[in-house]
Amino acid sequence: MESGISSMAGILKEFPVEPGSLIPILQKSQKEFGFISPQVVERIAAFLKMTENEIYGVASFYSQFRFIPKGRHTITVCLGTACHVRGGAILLEALERHLEIKTGECTPDRRFDLDAVACLGCCALAPVVKIDNNIYGNMAVIKIKELLEKYE
Ligand code: FES
Repeated sequence: MESGISSMAGILKEFPVEPGSLIPILQKSQKEFGFISPQVVERIAAFLKMTENEIYGVASFYSQFRFIPKGRHTITVCLGTACHVRGGAILLEALERHLEIKTGECTPDRRFDLDAVACLGCCALAPVVKIDNNIYGNMAVIKIKELLEKYE
């Protein structure tokens, strides 16, 4: 995290010490590091003279911020209407069970992280699962194991 900490100093230098800087600093930090680590929160708290709890309180209000690193592959399950009626939630549950993580988490080996979205824009293929930039339509629980084996 040493290089992260020095780039953190670079990020903080760009902003005035005022509460309004919090969101832009969080956005820039996430862009730089991929997620908001406890070390980053500690640095921002010291810089803006806020408590770490205040920062988590504000940041967790915005779904754009993530507090855990991404996996090598991101699995996104569609829970939009078309996918929902065709079993999107069942797919998500099956993936949670298979990977032994909850939605929004990353596997301990960092191979996969799991997310859900409202619509992936290809409703005719419902239910849809996306892995990285690949769309898999007409997904079924029975196909999950084989599909994940393609991703190391
Ligand atoms: S509802 Fe799933 S792709 Fe649109």
